[in-house]
Amino acid sequence: MRFLKPIVLLAISCYGQSLEDLPQMADNSTNTPVPASSEASKYVLPPLPYSYDALEPHISTQIMELHHKRHHQAYVNNLNSALDELQKLRGQANPDDTDLNWSRVFELEETVKFNKGGHINHSLFWKGLTPAGTPESTPQGELEKAIITHWGSIEAFKTTFYKSILQQVKGSGWGWLVCNIHTNKLAVATSKDQEAILAPDKPILGIDMWEHAYYLQYYNNKIAYLEAIWNVLNWKEANERYILCLPHSFK
Ligand SMILES: [Fe+2]
Repeated sequence: MRFLKPIVLLAISCYGQSLEDLPQMADNSTNTPVPASSEASKYVLPPLPYSYDALEPHISTQIMELHHKRHHQAYVNNLNSALDELQKLRGQANPDDTDLNWSRVFELEETVKFNKGGHINHSLFWKGLTPAGTPESTPQGELEKAIITHWGSIEAFKTTFYKSILQQVKGSGWGWLVCNIHTNKLAVATSKDQEAILAPDKPILGIDMWEHAYYLQYYNNKIAYLEAIWNVLNWKEANERYILCLPHSFK
């Protein structure tokens, strides 16, 4: 098991994620950033790929609405605000100017790091879920084969994955199944707060372990939450992410 290292998030390409996983810009028809008053690019909240009640009874409508509309939206808003202020600060002086308010710049860069991680992690999370009982909610394809090869069975993987999460995520964080794009090997990992998965790892499955993801329904019973969310994992999406991690012969 391992913790992911702290990251510098200003370069999106560092995340080891495919282009379709990246946050949508305001003008997603051309992928050209839309000039705002400060001419900064604007990130937007991606819509859920299902209705707010679609994951009932495993994840309640109330949690989904609050999680998406309030929490994820806050990451987006805070990210845009910090980027706006950073751009204004940097526009006031050349980058080598010692009079530049560097303490505020560093503070804002930390804010960008945290909120951009939150935006990307949640964007991946929503796409990684699906209503229970759908064809997508069953382990499948190359990923299923690779998990069985690596861990012996899907159940054995689940036990290892959840043990890692329960032992490693002490406060707020995420549990991940990742694939190394160089070795093509699968591994379980955890990240603190809103740290994202960095290359050479690629996120395949991600589970939000912040209390806002489960507390209203499961209180402090993380195991009950983990058992519930297993029913709504989108294995089709996970398999597609895994295939992108494999050598070209599998694509
Ligand atoms: Fe969350």
